[in-house]
Amino acid sequence: MNDMTTAEPRVVLVTGASSGFGRLTVESLARRGHQVFAALRGVHDRNERASAELTTLAADERLELRVVELDVTDQASADRAVDTVLRTAGRLDVVVNNAGSIFPGPLEAFSADEAARQLDVNVLGALRVNRAALPHLREQGHGALVQIGSISGRVTLPYSGLYAASKAALGSLTEAWRHELAPFGVESVLVEPAPYPTSIGNNAVSPADTARLSAYGEGMGRFVTELTERQTAMPEDPRAVADTIAALVELPGGTRPWHVVVAPEAQRQAVESAARAADDAARAVSSDMGVAAFMTAGQPRTEAGIL
Ligand SMILES: NC(=O)c1ccc[n+]([C@@H]2O[C@H](COP(=O)([O-])OP(=O)(O)OC[C@H]3O[C@@H](n4cnc5c(N)ncnc54)[C@H](OP(=O)(O)O)[C@@H]3O)[C@@H](O)[C@H]2O)c1
Repeated sequence: MNDMTTAEPRVVLVTGASSGFGRLTVESLARRGHQVFAALRGVHDRNERASAELTTLAADERLELRVVELDVTDQASADRAVDTVLRTAGRLDVVVNNAGSIFPGPLEAFSADEAARQLDVNVLGALRVNRAALPHLREQGHGALVQIGSISGRVTLPYSGLYAASKAALGSLTEAWRHELAPFGVESVLVEPAPYPTSIGNNAVSPADTARLSAYGEGMGRFVTELTERQTAMPEDPRAVADTIAALVELPGGTRPWHVVVAPEAQRQAVESAARAADDAARAVSSDMGVAAFMTAGQPRTEAGIL
């Protein structure tokens, strides 16, 4: 094993590990000496190749890295994956809810069924996986849920309304888990990355209603062109996100921040200030309602130098 960490080895389940942040994260964590379960959907069909590559990597580098089948839209699949982890490793320390997709386009072009599919993967997916893992984490009295949100969950731009709604909802779930699970010693963390070049664009799902989509064609076309020009001029390395997740995994229990933004500096500062304001508002409202004692203070944000 190379890049071995001095941190205590953790047992980690990462969803959506076939590509992008998930793939980089499982490879990085395994190389740092952790026992990693790379959760993929379709290990024998759509992701057969990614599955074989990860298995070969594990054998070549003698890593504690295993592939498990997990489609986050299926509760039984999530239950089976967690069960496999527990039977193989005997425990589970950190769940990384990374699986996700984007349905870009003007809101009007999407049917309610398409919107439900976006929410099913990005929101209910994490709910299912955590539902499978939580009885075990509560019982062992420690562990962490790490949700991969997005700065879009905090800042809504046009033509990504469904995605933004899904990530805002995931952020709300993460907050509720944080407060509800603290008495059990289980942490809940939201990672909010800016746009990074992964496979997410290639895997994007467009609305079937092309007539309504084309009504917005000119504005959306200009939006995409300008966004792409900016991102091409200033490419970002998606390993920054994987490194952040690895750092969160390795932090001692009870010291993890509840929120981390991974973004170019100006975006990071803006989104962190929004998160801080929301946290301050939650504190003030809960205090006025007489339930402040149920809110977890937790660690402050990244500028405290935790990561
Ligand atoms: N890249 C960005 O700019 C960015 C920014 C902020 C947040 N994020 C978030 O980061 C996470 C990872 O995205 P990425 O950028 O790394 O994109 P990616 O390369 O497309 O990875 C997405 C992963 O999610 C998996 N997935 C999709 N639906 C699934 C399902 N039903 N069950 C299990 N796995 C499923 C995909 O598997 P398949 O190969 O089978 O499709 C893939 O492994 C997502 O939650 C995304 O929203 C991305």
